[in-house]
Amino acid sequence: MNILVVNGSPSGKDSITLQTVRYLEKKFPEQKFSYLDAASRIHALQKDFTPAREALEKADMVLFSYPVYTFIATSQLHTFIRLMKQTDAAVSGKVASQVTTSKHFYDITAHNYIRDNCFDMAMNFVPGLSADMDDLLKEKGQKEAVEWFRHLLWCVENKVFEKPVHHNAHKLIETVNVPESQVEPKNDKDIVILVDSSNTNPTLEAMVRRFQAKLPIKTRVIDLGTFGFKGGCLGCFRCAATGKCIYKDGFDDFLRNNIQKTDSIVMAFNIQDHSMGVRFKLYDDRQFCNGHRTVTTGMPMGYIITGDLDAEENLRMIIEGRGQVGGNYIAGIATNQTDPDGEIDKLALNLEYALDNGLQRTSNFLGIGGMKIFRDLIYLMQGMMKADHKYYKAHGLYDDFPQKQRSTIFKMKLVGLLMNNPKLMAKAGDKVTEGMVGPYRKVVDNA
Ligand SMILES: Cc1cc2nc3c(=O)[nH]c(=O)nc-3n(C[C@H](O)[C@H](O)[C@H](O)COP(=O)(O)O)c2cc1C
Repeated sequence: MNILVVNGSPSGKDSITLQTVRYLEKKFPEQKFSYLDAASRIHALQKDFTPAREALEKADMVLFSYPVYTFIATSQLHTFIRLMKQTDAAVSGKVASQVTTSKHFYDITAHNYIRDNCFDMAMNFVPGLSADMDDLLKEKGQKEAVEWFRHLLWCVENKVFEKPVHHNAHKLIETVNVPESQVEPKNDKDIVILVDSSNTNPTLEAMVRRFQAKLPIKTRVIDLGTFGFKGGCLGCFRCAATGKCIYKDGFDDFLRNNIQKTDSIVMAFNIQDHSMGVRFKLYDDRQFCNGHRTVTTGMPMGYIITGDLDAEENLRMIIEGRGQVGGNYIAGIATNQTDPDGEIDKLALNLEYALDNGLQRTSNFLGIGGMKIFRDLIYLMQGMMKADHKYYKAHGLYDDFPQKQRSTIFKMKLVGLLMNNPKLMAKAGDKVTEGMVGPYRKVVDNA
C-alpha cells in the first residue's frame, strides 16, 4: 500500500511522533511509506497546495502523524485540513488513520477531531494509535504500535471501517435582533469578547452585538483574525523556563496584559471543521507560553457560537474540558440553533450573576482527571518546566498526591485488618457503617 504520512508536528523531521511511524516503516518493509511535512511547511502549502494534493491523491492510505496540542491537533494541522477541504482533494474512499504522541491529556478529543474530518471527506476511517510520548522507548510501547499497525492492515483488507454517527441537523437561525443598549454599562468590570474576523458571518456578528447590548457591563472586542501572529506554536519548549515565547510578535505580553487580566472572557466563533477554526486554535496553542499554569482560574467564561453545536459532541467536550481544567465556570453557550436571542440573553444574565457572586465551577472527571495528568507531568519535569513547578508548589497543586496522605493510608490499613477478621467484624456490627457515615452526619448536625 502507498501510505502517505501527513506529519502534523511543527517539529518536522524531529517530531517524536514521527519516530513511531518510522519504526513501523522498518517493521513493515512490504508497505510503501512517503512523508509530507504538513506542519513545518504550512506557510508554503498555504501559497501552493498542489504538491500536497498530488501526494494525497496518489496515496492509498493517509496516516495523520501529529502531537496532541491543547485538546486537539496543532493549529498547522488545522490549516492543512482546511486546505484539504477547500481544494477538494480527491481522498474520498481512501483509508485514513492517525498516530499521536502526547501525555494522554485530551488525546481523545484530538483523535475525534481528525476522525470527524475524515468522515466529512468520505474517507474510510480506522481508529488510530494514541501513544504516550515515551512509549516507543519501551518494549511494551513498541509491541503496541506494531500490533496496532498489523490490525490496521487487517481492517483495510477486511474493510472494517468505523461508521460515522449521523445527527439530525438543525436549520440554523440567521436572524438575530440587536436592541439598543437598555442601561448604561457598569464600568467596574471588564469583559473581553474574542472574535475572529477571518472566520465570521453576519449572524455571529449580530449575536455579539446583542450580547453587548444585553450585558450591563463594559465589553472589549479583540479580533484574533487581525492580530499579527507570526505563526503557530513551534513546540520548541523554550518558554518552559521563562514563560517567554521565541516569536517576537508580542503575543505573550498582549495575552497577559490585555486578555488574561480581564474579569471574564467570552469566545465568539463559527464552527469550522468540527473545531473553533484555525485562528482560535492558533491562539490556544500559543498560550503554551503559560505552560500548564491555570492562570485564569476562577474567571467565568462564556461562548457565542454559530453552527450546529448539538451535532458536535467532540467540540462540546473540548469546551467543557477546557473550562474544567482551567477552573472556569462556563456561564453559558449561546448558539443560533433554536433561539439565539433567548440564549444570548440568558448568557448575559448568568454571566452577570456569576461575576457578582464569584461563582466557581465545581469539578468533575474532566477537570480532576486532566489536572492529575498535569500534576504528575510537571512534578516529573520540574527541572525543565521551572515556571510551572513554581506555580504548582505555590498553588498547592501537588497537595493531593496520595503518598502525602499518610493518616488516611494508616486508617485504611486498620479498617482492612478489621474487615479481614470475622470475629472483630461480628463484634463491631453496625459500628463499621457508623464509622464511615458518622463524620458526614456530624457536618449535617452542625450545619
Ligand atoms: C503547544 C503544546 C500543546 C500541547 N498540548 C498537549 C495536550 O493537550 N495534551 C497532551 O497530552 N500533550 C500536549 N502536549 C505535549 C505533546 O503532545 C508532546 O510533547 C508530543 O509528544 C510532541 O510530539 P512531536 O515531537 O511529534 O511534536 C503539548 C505540547 C505543546 C508544545
